[in-house]
Amino acid sequence: MALLEIKKYPDNILKEKTVLIDDIDGELQHLIDNMTETMYSVRGIGLAANQVGIPKRLCVVDTSIRDEKGSLIVLINPIIISKEGKEEAEEGCLSLPGYLQTIKRSAKIFLKALNREGKPMEIEATGLLARVFQHEIDHLDGLLIIDRISPIKREFFKRRYKKSLREAVFNFKP
Ligand code: NI
Repeated sequence: MALLEIKKYPDNILKEKTVLIDDIDGELQHLIDNMTETMYSVRGIGLAANQVGIPKRLCVVDTSIRDEKGSLIVLINPIIISKEGKEEAEEGCLSLPGYLQTIKRSAKIFLKALNREGKPMEIEATGLLARVFQHEIDHLDGLLIIDRISPIKREFFKRRYKKSLREAVFNFKP
């Protein structure tokens, strides 16, 4: 297994919609293992394939560091088929280090996906798990949490981001 590089904003691959997977082969199993190891190494609770530079509709989720009931869930070609209610909570993202934002999501979702063996499954999720699934499926559709906030907040984020880049350059001492 190997650790993969996590792509950060504003990498263009994060804005591209991922493609459906039709071959669940050894290469894909290898990618799943590496994504899982990478997610655990940075104490993340979800990671989408395009975050490691692979534009395929695949993500791994494990909320057990925040929620004892959690365990590793691999979603291949996930699709949300129904949603209920609304809930707000703070979210972060491995592709936007240091940034936290309150995001409104559906409180309960029902999704369909294939598991890592390619078997169809249906999952009903609430709370943190429902939130992480929606966050990861957004990644697979080319959306980040900054695409889920008001234009004013997004402008503020972009300005702060540019400022942090400038400061990083000014503070750089060889
Ligand atoms: Ni994320």
